[in-house]
Amino acid sequence: MKIKIINGPNLNLLGKREPKVYGSRSFEDFLRELRDKYKTVEIDYYQSNSESEIVELLQQASGYCSAVILNAASFTHTSIAIADAVAAINIPVFEVHISNVYRREWFRHHSYVSPHASGIIIGLGLKGYQLAVEACLDL
Ligand code: DQA
Repeated sequence: MKIKIINGPNLNLLGKREPKVYGSRSFEDFLRELRDKYKTVEIDYYQSNSESEIVELLQQASGYCSAVILNAASFTHTSIAIADAVAAINIPVFEVHISNVYRREWFRHHSYVSPHASGIIIGLGLKGYQLAVEACLDL
């Protein structure tokens, strides 16, 4: 099985960025462990700070992946283009947020992505990505 993880803006700074909110581990470090744990799963990883690039990555995924794990970060709360791309592709997309966005500022309480997601995992830290991989395996 092939899965694509797409992380949005500022998630390249995981480990350094607001560690009280996002933890002190880099995504690359976590990804090594994830790939090791799920050896039979091919996990492609992309991080982009650009909305249009994320739209492209989603469109490309439908050609060759079984599922996408998407943390669109701040674009979750602003981007109709990314929501449309999630709706347009014919593979499941699992939405992940590291922090519990509902305990944070009001502007993080709305997601344009959620109505089109196959499942949503929020507030469980990086473990949320592992649970999303499990969800992909159950498909
Ligand atoms: C986030 C939550 C978003 O509100 C924020 O803009 C992010 C990360 C999370 O994973 O908790 O950049 O998606």
